[in-house]
Amino acid sequence: MTGNRPLALVTGASSGIGADLARELARHGHDLVLSARRVEPMRALAEELKALGATSTVIAADLSKPGAAATLVQAIESRGLVLDVLINNAGLGAGGPFHDSDPLRVSEMLYVNVVALTELTRALLPGMVQRRRGRVMFVASTAGFQPGPSMAVYGASKAFVLSLGEAISYELRGTGVTLTTLCPGATHTEFAEVAKTGTSVLFDSPLASVMSSAEVARQGYRALAAGKRLHITGFINKVVAASGRFSPHAISLPVTSAILKPGK
Ligand SMILES: NC(=O)c1ccc[n+]([C@@H]2O[C@H](COP(=O)([O-])OP(=O)(O)OC[C@H]3O[C@@H](n4cnc5c(N)ncnc54)[C@H](OP(=O)(O)O)[C@@H]3O)[C@@H](O)[C@H]2O)c1
Repeated sequence: MTGNRPLALVTGASSGIGADLARELARHGHDLVLSARRVEPMRALAEELKALGATSTVIAADLSKPGAAATLVQAIESRGLVLDVLINNAGLGAGGPFHDSDPLRVSEMLYVNVVALTELTRALLPGMVQRRRGRVMFVASTAGFQPGPSMAVYGASKAFVLSLGEAISYELRGTGVTLTTLCPGATHTEFAEVAKTGTSVLFDSPLASVMSSAEVARQGYRALAAGKRLHITGFINKVVAASGRFSPHAISLPVTSAILKPGK
């Protein structure tokens, strides 16, 4: 808590869903710790959030580096800040076949999407359980419900996040702390440009159903506040997730490949 306001850490707060989750949290009475690599957009966001009554602390962190999660936790604790909410949102994807992928990008995805999220949660959850107060969010993806040819590492990383999130959420029953795994589908952010997947059927076709990051954040905050275990954004994404979860892979592999493959 800072004053009377609960305090929330949002990773990946410099753009997209993370920035909009920070806006939702500020609107609902939270102060913020904003973290990502790019400081300028976070400073601008911190200024914007002042108008909502929120005090924000900006902490730069590159979560693709080993030990980055521990350094971030130390930076928070050394300021005397105690977190009520942890939003593990930072993440990135990469399109194209695995055998052609940039090995550095593969490592970056594993560190940011999987290692940092796990280590941050492991470091911050015990204090929340001890205080019997806390809300945690994992931002996974509908990509986590089935293997994702053309985004194989990304899909596997989000399957990890989904599995870890649901398991921890179950373990936390009765502790006063909840963990919500949020699964957006295609969303208008910088994600597609970073992943070089903006020309795929998922993002760029008459079939594409791309949600705004503000709507994802609005739904995400509601699910977090309600302590829901899992929230998939929107009806179409719920159908996609259910078919990914229950279809035989002989069917879901070619369908997912066609949807995720970067176009010409
Ligand atoms: N957009 C979609 O279609 C979609 C769909 C499902 C799930 N998601 C998930 O939603 C989450 C947010 O993504 P987004 O769509 O909002 O994309 P985005 O606009 O590209 O935002 C990604 C955020 O992650 C941060 N980040 C990336 N690499 C980082 C690193 N090495 N260290 C620290 N922070 C890093 C970025 O900040 P810096 O670059 O400043 O470091 C940025 O703030 C991700 O976990 C993504 O997988 C997105």
